[in-house]
Amino acid sequence: MVDTLGRIPEDFIQSLLARVDIVEVIGAHVSLRKAGANYVACCPFHTEKTPSFSVNQHKQFYHCFGCGVSGDAIQFLIENNGVTFVEAVEILAAQVGMQIPSDNKPAQSAEHNLIYNILSEATKYFEQQLRQHKLANQVVQYLKDRGLTGVVAKSFKLGFAPPGWDNLLTNIASNTEQKEAGVKAGLFVNREANKYYDRFRNRVMFPIRNRRGKVIGFGGRIIGQAEGEPKYLNSPETVLFSKSQELYGYYEAKQTIQKTGIVIVVEGYMDVVSLAQAGITNAVATLGTACTEQHVQSLFKTATEIIFCFDGDVAGKKAAWRALELCLPILDDLHRIKFIILSNAEDPDSFVRKFGAEAFREQINAAASLPDFLFNTLAKQADLEHIDGRVQLANQVKQQLIKLPDGIFKDMMFARLAQLIDVDPAMLRNKITQPQFIAKPKVTKPARALALVSPALRAVAMLLSFRELIIDMPDLTGLDLVDITGSSLLYAVAEILRAAPQASEEDIKEQLPVDLGKSFVPAELRGITHIVPKDGVKQEFLGIIQLLRRREKELAMDGLLLKAKQNVLSTSEKQLLHQMLQEKGKLSE
Ligand code: CTP
Ligand code: MN
Repeated sequence: MVDTLGRIPEDFIQSLLARVDIVEVIGAHVSLRKAGANYVACCPFHTEKTPSFSVNQHKQFYHCFGCGVSGDAIQFLIENNGVTFVEAVEILAAQVGMQIPSDNKPAQSAEHNLIYNILSEATKYFEQQLRQHKLANQVVQYLKDRGLTGVVAKSFKLGFAPPGWDNLLTNIASNTEQKEAGVKAGLFVNREANKYYDRFRNRVMFPIRNRRGKVIGFGGRIIGQAEGEPKYLNSPETVLFSKSQELYGYYEAKQTIQKTGIVIVVEGYMDVVSLAQAGITNAVATLGTACTEQHVQSLFKTATEIIFCFDGDVAGKKAAWRALELCLPILDDLHRIKFIILSNAEDPDSFVRKFGAEAFREQINAAASLPDFLFNTLAKQADLEHIDGRVQLANQVKQQLIKLPDGIFKDMMFARLAQLIDVDPAMLRNKITQPQFIAKPKVTKPARALALVSPALRAVAMLLSFRELIIDMPDLTGLDLVDITGSSLLYAVAEILRAAPQASEEDIKEQLPVDLGKSFVPAELRGITHIVPKDGVKQEFLGIIQLLRRREKELAMDGLLLKAKQNVLSTSEKQLLHQMLQEKGKLSE
């Protein structure tokens, strides 16, 4: 994998990040505690007593309000484990069982094409079954009862997956290559060797298309009442389909969104289709997941206004608030966000069918602007008659407003808060930016050295604190000779401890060769180990040694390759290089 350095395709990285959970990744190294929507811990990258390190599961992002570090799961491994970008990707890919594509692009797109093709075949098959299957009448009647005409069904390519375990399978996949492509597409399930079956059975099928109109996944709805089984079944995440990025109905809505600049974000497949049936053709839906920053950013490319439309139940209100929080840091002067909270138990589908398109358009026109929605929601919860109620409100609003990018909008929001709680805006702003009022990042950044500690030095630190690691420590011969930061120190310290496991730090320093002795600073080393949870120490230690061995090999191979270029390889070196290249070929197959 060395020579794929920097060449791992971006879409692979994105689908990898969509599959791993940053909370699990960080949780393996740091003990996280749930606090509200986030997880918190004492920051592994600087010394602190109260937790200011926060992990946002929703955004898959960490941030330390103390020292300012932030990043995604890959970044965390780079910083915390001292590995390279490629190594971090390898670690995560192994955890979620994904194969890093080789730098052989044509092969990858050939595979993608197979998957696109099988999805397209499936779409056609499902559409055809909606016309031809012996149960088709019943299914069409179900759609008609839900107010849909054939025209709209056709424009969304709705279909029918018949009951039975292998209808799709036998109709569109005749060989293993196609079956495997179908598995990768999320259409077939393959639990035992050579046994495949249809994932979607006896459901109305909603194809999900990407921005270019290609089908990348499906949602399938039970016909009629759901009993026991989930009402909706969605394609799993695949190399082509990521729920945190895709929106149902975007392709179909694109033209209207471009024309009007407005997009309505709803929660369900049926909401999108039903609104389209009513002539409201600029709605999209999230795919059974919460709205993400990626969704909003990608909508911002074509729309200037996003109107979130949520059900009026508790879950809907919560989702609306989450969407608001998500949008605050990315708001700018070009874009507007609005909210519609439907009354009672209505969703957009039931609303538009009960009250008609005009009534829904009125809702759109009356949608609350983000500031109105924010202030009204918070004001409803606060007691504005009394000072402590107003202070409480100020605190809550402030928590939201500090997320806004600096600008006129932010200033105006502060002014409005001041007006609402009846204080002088200048005073409010001053108070609010004072450190004791909000947890602002400290100005002086603590040294980041700790985050950048080389793996070998981390291993040395572990050996010092956990002497039992000596007991079945693998052989380290050779590590004294490779050019990797800290590896010769690791070798030397390990040898000393092998002979005298309880040697004091001074003893060790004394026995080390002078040049190594200089880089042996126990006080610094001791600061490192707290990053690793106690029961993970051995695994981490062995992992580092494996990593060093791998690097050793890579370096040796690089050396041989260089010699080969200069034509100065000896016969035995030639053999060795040949062997190494073969091994490597096997690994990356
Ligand atoms: N959803 C899901 N899995 C479920 C239920 C819901 O993925 N078991 C997702 C689907 O994307 C669905 C959306 O959440 O479209 C909204 O679900 P819900 O409000 O329960 O259903 P409706 O959209 O109202 O569905 P319908 O009107 O068909 O009953
Ligand atoms: Mn509904």
